[in-house]
Amino acid sequence: MKIIVCKDYAEMSKKATEMVAALVKSKPDCTLGLATGSTPEGLYAGLVEKYESGEISFAKVNTVNLDEYYPIDPKNDQSYRYFMNQKLFDHIDINKNNTHVPNGLAKDVEKECAEYDELVKKLGVDIQILGIGRNGHIGFNEPDTYLVPGTHVTDLTQNTIEANSRFFASADEVPKKALTMGIGSILSAKQIIMLVSGANKKEAVAKLLTGNLYTDCPATMINLHDDVTLIVTEDAYR
Ligand code: GLP
Repeated sequence: MKIIVCKDYAEMSKKATEMVAALVKSKPDCTLGLATGSTPEGLYAGLVEKYESGEISFAKVNTVNLDEYYPIDPKNDQSYRYFMNQKLFDHIDINKNNTHVPNGLAKDVEKECAEYDELVKKLGVDIQILGIGRNGHIGFNEPDTYLVPGTHVTDLTQNTIEANSRFFASADEVPKKALTMGIGSILSAKQIIMLVSGANKKEAVAKLLTGNLYTDCPATMINLHDDVTLIVTEDAYR
């Protein structure tokens, strides 16, 4: 694992922006695996800036997002579809038909998950962006005694419901389930960039850095991948 320790959030975001922009320049029809949460917001702002300055174009880029609450209407301002439109897609020249987020209103969840995995496989993710939950989750793969390889519906842990309630009126309004790519779908990306910022992620990062695999810290599964860059702020590192 390549580790880049940054002094702060701005530097972390800049490093990630440079890496993603370099890919978009060298492979204009690349597939980006995207994440939500506050951590990648600076990256998305950086990409919008590079688009606005004419440095990069997203006209041929495809995207697949890691996860979505379930059930949730994509028009709900707390949905991950809404987040992605607002933070990135609405500000760049991407074809929205080429942007994919699991459907929070899918009636047949099994079918939605199987089709999402097919899509991820067909597109082939060049760079997967990951954040990390303070309990070590990636996407919505929560700590458990076992982990699921493919896209699936999952119950959110109380810890995650509480952590994410800051975006909702109250914890009661946070959906209790989510659709998420599985560990196998995530590891199928050619390259992984994990962004981590903030002292409340320190414990999860320490576990990741042992190099071992813990199902109670799903982020450690990226230790199985041979092209991972961890871009981490000083306060989250050791
Ligand atoms: C959310 C998302 C994850 C994200 C994580 C951390 O629940 N499902 O993909 O990495 O929580 O969020 P934040 O970056 O806001 O700390």
